[in-house]
Amino acid sequence: MPEVNYKVGLIGKLDMLKFKNMPKVRNAAIDASPSTPLKGIEPTNEKAKAHHPKQIEFVIDDILQNGPDAKTVILKKKDGERLPLFRAGQYISVDVPIGTTHTTRSYSICSSPALAREGIYHITVKRDDAGFVSPYIQDNWKKGDTVITSGPQGHLYYEPIRDAKKVVALAGGSGITPFMGMAYAIRDGYEDFDLTVIFGSRTEDAIVYRKELDEVCAACDKVHVVHVLSDEEKEGFEYGFISADLIRKYAGNGEFSIFMCGPQAMYNYLDGEIAKLGLRQKFVRRELFGAIKDPWNQPGYPEEIRGRTFNLHVVQCGKEYDIPASADESLMVACERAGLVVPSRCRSGECGWCHSKLLSGDVFIPEKTDGRRAADLDYGYIHICSSFPASDVAIDVPAKPVDTQ
Ligand code: FES
Repeated sequence: MPEVNYKVGLIGKLDMLKFKNMPKVRNAAIDASPSTPLKGIEPTNEKAKAHHPKQIEFVIDDILQNGPDAKTVILKKKDGERLPLFRAGQYISVDVPIGTTHTTRSYSICSSPALAREGIYHITVKRDDAGFVSPYIQDNWKKGDTVITSGPQGHLYYEPIRDAKKVVALAGGSGITPFMGMAYAIRDGYEDFDLTVIFGSRTEDAIVYRKELDEVCAACDKVHVVHVLSDEEKEGFEYGFISADLIRKYAGNGEFSIFMCGPQAMYNYLDGEIAKLGLRQKFVRRELFGAIKDPWNQPGYPEEIRGRTFNLHVVQCGKEYDIPASADESLMVACERAGLVVPSRCRSGECGWCHSKLLSGDVFIPEKTDGRRAADLDYGYIHICSSFPASDVAIDVPAKPVDTQ
């Protein structure tokens, strides 16, 4: 290896000296500062809070039918102020109290970031989404109701230093919603990339956002849509399922990223098709939205626990509870069924919001939704939204943080 001689000039030497002295200067500043807490909130902290609220209070401004089984809910910030800007593709987690149960569900913000300036987000709720929350919302929410949500969350957004300039978005059913937000953001100048949406629906009538997608495509030559129908062969539509060949056909030449959003069955199928494309790992990204519904089909699931119910001992803010927990459902669902209010956002193991200390017992965590950080592993923390009991279990769960904006 050739020897390299680095020459450091006077300015460089002064910089190095400054850098070396930094801890001394910082410690002196800490020693000189008063030990009493700050009286007010610093303006910069106020600004940060406005951009990253823990909770937002909305009023339902309107509910619009969107296709045969989806409704778009127009949420307006209760105090009429502007909302935090979001990265197109992000979601909000909606609080849904149902009887004695308190649960949450994530919905992508499917409106333009431009509307956030007017205090408005749109979400779309499809009746056949897995679970009972979406049907509940469809049947019970009405204009004028108050809705509490998290601030914008999630990582399925375009990042120029990571993603290719061209994105092929694979959407199934209500999985179109993050890409609707991206399409609007590109049209309105908030994002700059080329988006081709390959959108799978059962039939032509079942397509949500058809008119809106056509309008954006007509207004903006960076957005393209290909409809794929699985149950109907019709002129002007692709027929069947989204495949590697179909992706190649519409991705064209050059590098591209794949973003995916849809039901778990779609991912299970598409994983094999995408593998055929030989893309680099960083170019394949997906939104999960919810725990794995069939843990018994995941590698490593201890088959002998299937269908069994264990005791879940929960410690929360000095109180203790013993509740039943099915091996087929996450610990978070067990808590919610028992009426406990626990922190939750992504519900898919990714965000870390629900991280809780595992005090004793065994849990099964599917590899696909194991979003624990190294520190979680070192200190025995789990994400209860993606952990399934494999024996009697005891956990220490934090309270749900409340800081409504
Ligand atoms: S709610 Fe996000 S990791 Fe559990």
